[in-house]
This record gives sequence, structure tokens and C-alpha cells, in this order.
Amino acid sequence: MVKIISEPNKNKQEITIKDQMKKFLLNSLYGFLTVLMFGLGRRIGILDYLLEKAKASPKEENISSISFTIDELSEKLNLDYNYVDAWAHTALECGILEIDDSCERCLKTAPYVFDLLIDRKKSTYVGDPLGAFYYLAPYQDLILEAFKEGGTIPNYEFSDEVIHDINRMSARFGTLIENLFSKNFGKFCEKLQNKGMVLEAGCGYGYNLQVWAKKYENVRFVGIDIDPKAIIFAKSLVNENKWDERVQIHEIPINEYAKKSTIKFDLIMLNQVLHEMDHDENYRLSVFNSLYSLLNYDGILLVGESMIPDTFAPKQKLLLFDVLHKFLEARFAGFYNEKTFTDFINLTPFTKSEFLKEGGNAIWVIRK
Ligand SMILES: C[S@@+](CC[C@H](N)C(=O)[O-])C[C@H]1O[C@@H](n2cnc3c(N)ncnc32)[C@H](O)[C@@H]1O
Repeated sequence: MVKIISEPNKNKQEITIKDQMKKFLLNSLYGFLTVLMFGLGRRIGILDYLLEKAKASPKEENISSISFTIDELSEKLNLDYNYVDAWAHTALECGILEIDDSCERCLKTAPYVFDLLIDRKKSTYVGDPLGAFYYLAPYQDLILEAFKEGGTIPNYEFSDEVIHDINRMSARFGTLIENLFSKNFGKFCEKLQNKGMVLEAGCGYGYNLQVWAKKYENVRFVGIDIDPKAIIFAKSLVNENKWDERVQIHEIPINEYAKKSTIKFDLIMLNQVLHEMDHDENYRLSVFNSLYSLLNYDGILLVGESMIPDTFAPKQKLLLFDVLHKFLEARFAGFYNEKTFTDFINLTPFTKSEFLKEGGNAIWVIRK
């Protein structure tokens, strides 16, 4: 049925064609270029260079902007002047940069850009979702195919750079998810503060593990993963933090580890892993059987997964990441929604599951 809406809503102020054009053409054109300039600036090292420059400043605690010249960037980073000039000019037009009048032909980062786009440690940093938009572009051809054919390609390989970046994003999610879990399972976490064994199945580069190991100082951790590059990096994080005594990292698939391990765990985390696994349901069920066998009888399996939202479901806060997953991992990942995930859990030996959601953060707390 075609429904034609011709009556303008008399209660609302009418939007002109010019307003609408401005909204989705001009603003978003700059928005698109902002993503592009941010992504390029990050990849060619300009943003890290500015971060280092800020850190070297005596007023490091209170950075409002960082001043630089195009010559300086070109020289220090060994980049072609014309390209740096083009980058800087576009970033200026997008509002990432401003002219710095205090010196000749100088630029500076615009207000808040340091906190939003440069310093990853700031709680206001939004570089990760912008980075995800940036990385989406090269996957257009795959997504195009998906429009025609549907379905997914298991284990599609993203580049190492993309994978490491996605993993880096996990540190932020690790903190949010730990907050959500400890807020709702206070007693369990209190016990964990004194003692416990935690497994992170699919620990990747170790960023999430690092968040938990810092908070639960008396817990012994095991992190396992099948990605050799990620394992090398995770081991370096353990070394850096001098955690060799209480954190073990192994390159091994979950099912293999379950066959070999004699340890039972109080908490097992499966954070942003399930969608990346082989899409075969029997394989996924075998992994959940393994996790079941590795868990203490009163232990908890914590599953952090984006639950793919319905376009017409009532809007919730901060669904950006979940919606992005719908696209970013088209042809690659096998996601669930709340109903299909519950159906999946019902096929496993686990008997109880609870879904916790706050804003865009969601976890499943699953018990034997
Ligand atoms: C998006 S990363 C998440 C990393 C980490 N959990 C975090 O939150 O930072 C997913 C990881 O799951 C790992 N993975 C996928 N299937 C696995 C399996 N069968 N056994 C162990 N690791 C697996 C991948 O290699 C990848 O490093």
C-alpha cells in the first residue's frame, strides 16, 4: 500500500527545502569530511604527534588546543607538504582546526578537539565510533554484494590495523560493562575482590582483560585467543603491568582449552567474541558446552554482545555501535537479537540467563 502524506503538520513549524538541504547535504558533507580527515589524521600519525606535543607541554593537565605549522608536520612526520596542506585546509573547513593568530601561518586544534579526537584516555573521546565509520568505507563492495545475496561470510579477515583498533575500543566497553555488572552483581564482585579465577575467552589484544585485572587485584586471570598477533600484544600488556604471576595468556581455541584445562573459573567473560565465531550453530553450541564445563557450579558466564536492534523498535539511548554493527559486519559476523540469543541459550546446558541493558551497553549474565 502506498501512503501519500500531503497535509503538512499544522502544529509543527514547517521545514523549508533549504533547511532540509542544509541538514542532509551541507552539514553531513562536512560531517563526512570530518570522519575522513579524522581517520587520515590518525592513520598518518598527525593526531598522535599532536598528543605527544601536548604531553611535552608544561601545562599538560589543561590542554585547550595544540598549535603547529604545516611545515612542522611535514618535516617531523616525513609527509608530503602539499598533502599535509590539503589535510589541514579541509580539517580547518570542517572545524577540527582553527587559524592560530599568535604566530605566522600557524594552525591550532579547535576547542575540545583534544578531548574529543586526540586523547584516547579522555572519557569524552569519540574517536572510536568515528574510526569505525572511517573503516566502513573500504568494505562497501562487500556490503554491496550482501544487498544482493544476503548471508554472511564466516571468518572474513579485516586488516590487522582495523582489528587492533576495534580491540582498542574494547577497553572502553570493558570499563562500561564492568560498571554495569558490578552495579547489579555487587555481592559476587565483592567476593571477587578477595579472591577468584577469571577466564577471558577470546581476550584479543588484552585491553578488556587489562581493565578487569586493574580492578580485581586479587584475582588470577587466564586469557585465551586464536589470533597470534593479539596474543603477542596481550602478553606485552601483562609484562608491562608486571602481572606475570597472576595473568596467563595462551594462544588456543576455546574448545581445545576446555579439553586441557583442569582449572574451574568463577567468572568467564565472552566479550564481543560470539559474533566473530564460525556461524555454524552446532559449533557455537560446542563452544558453550566447553564454557559450561570450565565454569564453577556457582560461577557466572558474562556475555557482552551487541544485540542487533529493530529499525522500528522504540529508540533507546546510544545505539550507535549496535546499529553500526548491522552494517560494518554485514557479510562477516553472525549476530543475535534478544529473542534469537535467548533461543540459542535455551539449546545450551545453561539454565538461567539475565539480560542487563543500560544505554547502549548490554550484557548477558548466564548461570549453570
Ligand atoms: C572483538 S575481539 C574481542 C576481544 C576482547 N574480548 C575484548 O573485549 O577486548 C574477538 C576475539 O575473539 C577471538 N576468537 C574468536 N573465536 C575464538 C575461539 N574459538 N577461541 C578463542 N578466541 C576466539 C578472536 O580471535 C578475537 O581476538
